[in-house]
Amino acid sequence: MIIAIDGPAGSGKSTVAKALAQELGLSFLDSGAMYRAVTLAVIEHDVDPMDAEGCARIARALSLEFDAQGRIQIDGRPGEPAIRSETVTKAVSAVSAHSEVRAAIVPQQRAEAVRRGGLVADGRDMGSVVFPQADYKFFLTASPEVRAKRRAHELHEQARFAEILADMQLRDHLDSSRKDSPLLCAPDAIPVETSSLDAQGVVRLLLARVRKDAKS
Ligand code: DC
Repeated sequence: MIIAIDGPAGSGKSTVAKALAQELGLSFLDSGAMYRAVTLAVIEHDVDPMDAEGCARIARALSLEFDAQGRIQIDGRPGEPAIRSETVTKAVSAVSAHSEVRAAIVPQQRAEAVRRGGLVADGRDMGSVVFPQADYKFFLTASPEVRAKRRAHELHEQARFAEILADMQLRDHLDSSRKDSPLLCAPDAIPVETSSLDAQGVVRLLLARVRKDAKS
């Protein structure tokens, strides 16, 4: 089974996708970690994030694997926590917007689904581009304020709420307005507004949807 969970930053996708995968005995794929890994290597090699061919060369040369806990390994080294740094977060929208970078990463995401015999994948284009045949497609949303509040809480940086909100809105804009695979709710995806729900509430909702079909 393939379950695609897309949505903007801070919509709770990865927490929900991980918990849903565990409940259903499926593997979890953090597709954003792959673009973050490429961005980290781009920065380490002093390549300009706007240089499409330079970024693509890095993307094609990297070996990206996942350990048993689903954490990304870059050329055999753990990618966490470096891939979550602010420098990477600020550059990742530019790097992931290049079609040449996506062309190097998308086949690896599809190969992971085959290798693992199904998965729950979270990202921006899981349902719209990478897994159009997914059994379930969910699109999580929440207001920008709620998403920034969640992210500030996660980072223990409540005092930087305004800055986090501004960065998030810029990333939303870049991810939604790019030409290749923009962030969007696929026509056949189920939209889930999560502003007034906690992660457990969202997981319950998605699980109910999947289990209802299993019964009927
Ligand atoms: O989910 P995340 O915040 O870790 O993703 C980081 C960035 O990677 C996001 O701003 C856009 C890009 N991304 C993408 O283009 N396609 C995906 N499927 C997942 C992430």
